[in-house]
Amino acid sequence: METMEAIRKRRTIRRFLQKPISFDILKELVDAARLAPSGGNLQPWEFLVIDDKNLLEPVFSTLAWAAYLGQEGKPKEGEKPVAYIAVLHNKKMKSFTPQADFGAAIENILLAAVDLGIGSCWIGSVQREKLAEILKIPADYSIEYVVALGYPAETAIAEDEKGDLKYWRDKDGIHHVPKRRLEEVLHHNRI
Ligand SMILES: Cc1cc2nc3c(=O)[nH]c(=O)nc-3n(C[C@H](O)[C@H](O)[C@H](O)COP(=O)(O)O)c2cc1C
Repeated sequence: METMEAIRKRRTIRRFLQKPISFDILKELVDAARLAPSGGNLQPWEFLVIDDKNLLEPVFSTLAWAAYLGQEGKPKEGEKPVAYIAVLHNKKMKSFTPQADFGAAIENILLAAVDLGIGSCWIGSVQREKLAEILKIPADYSIEYVVALGYPAETAIAEDEKGDLKYWRDKDGIHHVPKRRLEEVLHHNRI
């Protein structure tokens, strides 16, 4: 898939088929992450892949979904993620720009996932202490974000905003994501 095609096609997915993702594919997503740009090339990131069936539900219980949609936004039984990548900060490693680095690494995961036909949701709303206990994360690591993964079971589309940036679902369950217009965000030589 061409890069621009993946960028345009990528949408947050919150409903997934209950089909496992092979560990080779999950490893490829982490490979994409580790190749991301990083301030000072310090790469403070590490990635915990979670696909153990016994861990999926406990991890799910620490995550919040689609705040604008209320209960409707949360994956139901039969549509929950089949794997996660927890993005960790190795605190022993120096970093000038950790948040930007994690963002770059995560975007690589999301785009590589699109390329492989996998849907993803970048999750910042994480009960981090609870999740650290569940995953037995050592004290010198912090959990920054979680990426939820699975083959998509919903359609999501981006469209130019019409006065409201809140995403919404239509009566057919299609998820709509308003994006600010190119003419509004693009400045040329002066603002
Ligand atoms: C830093 C960050 C945190 C996010 N946290 C959550 C979250 O906790 N739960 C969720 O359902 N979606 C979360 N999202 C996904 C956004 O809601 C989504 O990216 C946005 O609605 C735009 O949709 P798109 O990704 O399809 O372009 C997060 C995205 C980012 C970048």
